[in-house]
Parts: sequence; C-alpha cells; structure tokens
Amino acid sequence: MNTLLVGFEAKDRIPRSADTVCHALDIYHRHAIEKIHHVKTICSPHLPEDDWSLIRFKTGPKRMSGELSLDLMQECVEMATKKGAKLEVEFEGRERDRNDLLNKAMGKDARKRSFAATWQTSVLGVEPITLKSYPGCFCHRRPDDGGLALAEVVSRDLAAMKTFKSAVKFLDMGCGSGMVGLLAAKSFGPGLGLVMVNSHSRAVEAAKENAASLGIAAEMILADDGTPARMDGTFDVFAGNPPYYSEYRIAEVFLETANRALKPGGAAYLVCKNAAGLEPVQRKYFDDVEIVKRRGYSVLKSVKKGA
Ligand SMILES: C[S@@+](CC[C@H](N)C(=O)[O-])C[C@H]1O[C@@H](n2cnc3c(N)ncnc32)[C@H](O)[C@@H]1O
Repeated sequence: MNTLLVGFEAKDRIPRSADTVCHALDIYHRHAIEKIHHVKTICSPHLPEDDWSLIRFKTGPKRMSGELSLDLMQECVEMATKKGAKLEVEFEGRERDRNDLLNKAMGKDARKRSFAATWQTSVLGVEPITLKSYPGCFCHRRPDDGGLALAEVVSRDLAAMKTFKSAVKFLDMGCGSGMVGLLAAKSFGPGLGLVMVNSHSRAVEAAKENAASLGIAAEMILADDGTPARMDGTFDVFAGNPPYYSEYRIAEVFLETANRALKPGGAAYLVCKNAAGLEPVQRKYFDDVEIVKRRGYSVLKSVKKGA
C-alpha cells in the first residue's frame, strides 16, 4: 500500500516500509526522520504527488498551529480525493477540536480556504514593501519586531556603506518570508547581491515569490546545516534572527555560518531578546560584539577580524 505520512516527526512511531513516504515541511525534520527511521522523506511546501492509496495526517495543537493544521488537512483531502486514497487523521488533542477540523475540511460547510497573507513593512528611507507569507512560515501575517529591529540596524549601516561601496554580498540566514534581506536590498539598491537561506520549505517558497514580486534578484537555499560548501568567505554582511527555543544551539549554527561566510572586515548581525545570553556565545566566534538596542530587542554586531 502506497502510504504518505503527513505531519509526522522523528519522535513518532513510523513504520519502516518501502511503500511509505514521509512529508516534511522543514528540512531539519526530513533529516531527523531519515536518520532515525530510514524512511524516504520528501521536504516540500506542498504534499508530493504519487499514487497514494493511504494518507495518514498527524496533527494537534502541540504539533502545529490551527491554521497550518487546516491548511495541510485541506491538502490531504484534496490529494486523497484526486488519488482515490483513504485518509486517516490522528489528532492529538480535544475531541471537540478534532471534530471542528474535520468539519471545516470535509463537513457539509467545508470550503477551500486560503491561508496565504500579504502585509506591508518598511524601514526608514525606503518605500514600504508588500510581502506574502504562508502558515508554517515565520513570520506569518505581520512583521516580527525582532526581525524589524535587525532590518533597521542593518539597513542604517548599509546606507552608510553605500557612500564608499558599489557592491555588497549579503547573507540573510533564517530568512523566513525574506523581510530582512529584501528590506536590505531596497536600502542598498541594485548593487546588493542577496542570498537567503532557510530550513523551512514554505519560507523559501514565500521569500522566492517576494523577491520576484519586488524585482529583486536573490539566490534561495533550502538548508539547515549552514551549507558549508557555499559559505566561502566572500560575504560582506550576514544577518540572522535565529530561533532561541533550543537555547543557543541554532544560534551557534548561525554564528558558525556567519564566521565562515564573511570575508575579513565583513559584519555579522544577530538579533535577540536577551543580549546577556547571546553575547558570550557570539564571542566564541567573534572577538568584539557591539550591542545596539532597538524595539525592545538587541542587535549584536561583530566584525570579522583580518581586514
Ligand atoms: C525567528 S525566524 C526569523 C525569520 C525572519 N528572518 C524574520 O526576522 O522575520 C527564524 C527562522 O530561521 C529558520 N531556521 C531555523 N533553523 C534554521 C537552520 N538551521 N538553518 C536555516 N534556517 C533555520 C526558521 O525556519 C525561521 O524561518
């Protein structure tokens, strides 16, 4: 039986079978599932097409947001209908919420909802830009204050750089919907060579669409490992707003990448709420750290030695 598993994570029981394929939105989850369960896993913003005979969707409020759950549920229903596949839903949570989800996606009042959102954002000296985002992609529906603080500090420095540099290579790691990199590109103008990296396929999809709609040329990379081969000491600026839910483990992946990617004299900017926590971690990778306060956040700036 050709089975597609949706919403499963490495901690789940996943049958090891040649006929089973897992879907993951984030490449980190894909790597973790493949490493632990040795099951073929496809990382993509939408469900992969095949001749599925069974689709199993695992969801619940602790696993994903209600919006993402309904969005993926709609995709499962659509795929199951198209392929004539059986659909099983494993809901971790209250019966009432399970019924609500099933009703919205398959009940008599079911209708196809779009959860894509568009919103505006800006930094000083730049026309507001309109960005699109999807459930699962950070940030969805509105700009994140930490990301905006980062964009403001970076754009201010880029505006100063413009007076003596005509070209800048810029790395936006953990780009989400692309807000920081795209505002930086707008601040600097056509000489900014933008590379955006994210581990989440929907973030990469949104950032790619946003760059195209703004007419900004950008290279997009889907990766969770800091893409060692690509980070070649040629970047002038690195910007990152890493997640802090794993203490500083992911921030360290960002800092390692910054250190490798930047050329001597290049600047790394990381934003966080707790500067006292991040500063000693950043000092493992860079000798100096300057702290700029903005919007209740701290942007930690370091310059790579050796220029
Ligand atoms: C706090 S969000 C910031 C998004 C965007 N830069 C902003 O400021 O609005 C962090 C982003 O990092 C991404 N991320 C987490 N771990 C990552 C990794 N190892 N490599 C690349 N991106 C990662 C997440 O998917 C998320 O999009």
